[in-house]
Amino acid sequence: MTKALVTGCAGFIGSHLTQRLLKDGVSVIGIDGFLDNYDVAAKLRNLAEIGTHPAFTFHSVMLQTQRWEQWLDGVDVVYHLAALPGVRSSWGAAFSDYVSHNILVTQSLLEACLKLPKPPVIVASSSSSVYGTMEGSRTDEQTPLRPISPYGVTKASMEQICQVYVKAFGLPVTMLRYFTVYGPRQRTDMAFHRFFSQMLKGESVSIYGDGQQSRDFTFVSDAVEANLLAARHASPGDIFNIGGDREIKLIDVLNIMGQLLQITPKIQFATGSAGDSLRTCADISFAQTKLGYRPRVGLEDGLRMQLANLRAQNKG
Ligand code: NAD
Ligand code: UGA
Repeated sequence: MTKALVTGCAGFIGSHLTQRLLKDGVSVIGIDGFLDNYDVAAKLRNLAEIGTHPAFTFHSVMLQTQRWEQWLDGVDVVYHLAALPGVRSSWGAAFSDYVSHNILVTQSLLEACLKLPKPPVIVASSSSSVYGTMEGSRTDEQTPLRPISPYGVTKASMEQICQVYVKAFGLPVTMLRYFTVYGPRQRTDMAFHRFFSQMLKGESVSIYGDGQQSRDFTFVSDAVEANLLAARHASPGDIFNIGGDREIKLIDVLNIMGQLLQITPKIQFATGSAGDSLRTCADISFAQTKLGYRPRVGLEDGLRMQLANLRAQNKG
């Protein structure tokens, strides 16, 4: 049986990945330190969704404690999702926390992996954050990195430290640049969670800017699938864009949400947010050809599933 380490297993993407691995018969060591950057109760709920499974061992601990020898014992593959995410909150004094969680912790993981027989390490990078605002039709992985937020700087640096370990020691590290992920259990600070929650309460939604910003939204099960494919097919140092079914403007997503809820959304336009990318659109050809990655869940279906999950949670 394969044994995997999942860092950030109580988070949004990490909890889905952990569930999928357990379902596939993989034994999982999960680590999460329950950062309070957003609702900790949501992370506890995510962990409860994973449930008690005989093949799941959970450590509630910060990765900065570096008990790597214990956590990596017998592990064949590492999925590193733990990070301090979020573009808007990365300014000011918070930056040192971003550096610690996103760069320093990653470097200590890479160092610890050198003591093992080179397990594949799949690292969560980020799209709008490392590319900044995208130009042209679609952005491929060769596009120069131009982060426009402090968070983006930490993700770009994290990629660079990974490449250093690939080049120096042949460590098989793969980086996945996710494009704004959504779906059940989405982080409570992210747009779709906030919008649905506000609309369900009859409140106005707050759009930062004019709503003309666009994103290539990616459903969470597609992001999970990309991790499994990368562990199987990627080569050391590979970087893949992981995107969704299309690029769409935020204002148009709100209209779809309104249709699903059968309401006309009340919108308040707020000041645009510093560091916010105006546009993201993924060229996923490399992930398609090398990994066999295909986004399977379209936006309308994905939004329906996120809404159903939120309604079930509100009832429970
Ligand atoms: P999340 O915040 O829900 O999950 C991250 C988890 O890691 C959290 O539960 C947190 O408590 C834990 N964690 C963070 N630092 C830790 C540390 N030092 N020690 C122990 N636990 C720690 O975030 P998410 O949205 O699931 O994102 C997962 C990864 O994907 C992150 O690396 C993020 O930067 C990246 N990413 C996410 C998106 C997205 O749209 N959600 C897009 C691009 C990249
Ligand atoms: C998301 C993740 O939060 C980042 O961790 C990740 O790095 C990034 O995707 C990425 O793809 O690289 P973001 O695109 O800002 O970042 O995701 P959302 O929080 O879902 O925001 C989407 C858009 O809605 C942004 O333009 C944001 O400004 C806007 N928004 C968000 C609002 O207008 N109102 C809100 O209440 C929240």
